[in-house]
Amino acid sequence: MADSEKNINILSLFGSPRKKGNSTLLAKHIILGAKSQGASVESIYLNGLNLKPCQGCYTCKKKDSKGCAVDDDMQDIYPKVIEADALIIASPVYWFNMSAQIKIFLDRCYALYNNNQDENPLSGKKIAIAMSYGDKDAFSSGCINALRSFQDIYNYVDANIVGMVYGSAEEPGEIVSNTELIKEAEALGVKLVTG
Ligand SMILES: Cc1cc2nc3c(=O)[nH]c(=O)nc-3n(C[C@H](O)[C@H](O)[C@H](O)COP(=O)(O)O)c2cc1C
Repeated sequence: MADSEKNINILSLFGSPRKKGNSTLLAKHIILGAKSQGASVESIYLNGLNLKPCQGCYTCKKKDSKGCAVDDDMQDIYPKVIEADALIIASPVYWFNMSAQIKIFLDRCYALYNNNQDENPLSGKKIAIAMSYGDKDAFSSGCINALRSFQDIYNYVDANIVGMVYGSAEEPGEIVSNTELIKEAEALGVKLVTG
């Protein structure tokens, strides 16, 4: 590793049911950029995992809580989120917002949030977002609406959104023909490590 490269630890969450979908591909180009700067990256396809929605039991907020009470695959993901220096979140636009897979992941991350900054593992975490949508326009597609949700959530938990890349594509893989966007994604990966 060159001196300028940094060994930061990134966790990438893919929220499309399509393994070769556009949002996943965009995220993979963020990963390429990050790896070029020496980052270690682990990727998780959320679709197909046993992930239940938050049950609103507030066990995670009780005194001396051991965290989320829902016993499913999120229990393996929590320590990875805590240990990661940065998260890459990839989602298609579904009904003018993020996919259900990502929404469940985010709701379940409520268990990690603590408004005492010293005990909040999300505080200061770097975030990169990748989104794709079928409409031609980022506003009418609902993409901007979804991005606003990400901004509210990550602002609330004191995380740091380093950048967002998003573009229009329909068929899986179509997004790679948008060479400017792919370059933007790779630059975001570099920034995630160096910024
Ligand atoms: C259930 C569903 C809902 C969708 N809702 C929207 C939408 O609200 N706005 C939009 O522009 N595209 C919508 N799309 C199109 C997808 O966002 C688009 O095909 C995207 O590139 C898929 O990303 P992926 O390839 O990562 O799965 C929807 C697709 C599906 C299957």
